[in-house]
Amino acid sequence: MLKIKILLISCLLLAAFYLPACDNKPEQKNTRKAVDYIRRIPGTDDSIPARVVQKGEVLIAYSDCYICHKEDQKSVGPAFKDIAERYPANKLYIEMLAQKVIRGGSGSWGYAVMDPHPKLSLKDAKTMVTYILSMKSK
Ligand code: HEC
Repeated sequence: MLKIKILLISCLLLAAFYLPACDNKPEQKNTRKAVDYIRRIPGTDDSIPARVVQKGEVLIAYSDCYICHKEDQKSVGPAFKDIAERYPANKLYIEMLAQKVIRGGSGSWGYAVMDPHPKLSLKDAKTMVTYILSMKSK
């Protein structure tokens, strides 16, 4: 009998110790970090001539860009407006992005791949990129 009593009491004690611990589980903290998708690059913007913007708009309309890009929504590729928010609109970045359009690639915005555009001249690619970067909000 005594053994049973001791067993019972230890069970109760155990329960008393462990049950409350079960009740207040440590709250799961939301550890997901907000990922900065745009990753804005600081720099100065050159003034963009309206004529170049218009030409870029036409060139893009007649190319395959809109298969993968939308103006203000992510599609296969990033939204043109997001690209405009990331890069300063100056010679350096226009040149760099134009090269990227010609060569294609991935990794700047995720894993999706942009097809290369080897037939595009650097001049036309720059004009297209200038149009994209003219979509900055401000
Ligand atoms: C097959 C789909 C596809 C087509 C067609 C396409 N793009 Fe892209 N584009 C992408 C993807 C995907 C990315 C993101 C690449 C990355 O993450 O590095 C991208 C990125 C870009 C960027 C930003 C590059 C960077 O490194 O930030 C520019 C500018 C751009 N595209 C312009 C164009 C222009 C102009 C055209 C038309 C001549 C075009 N794209 C056609 C899929 C495409």
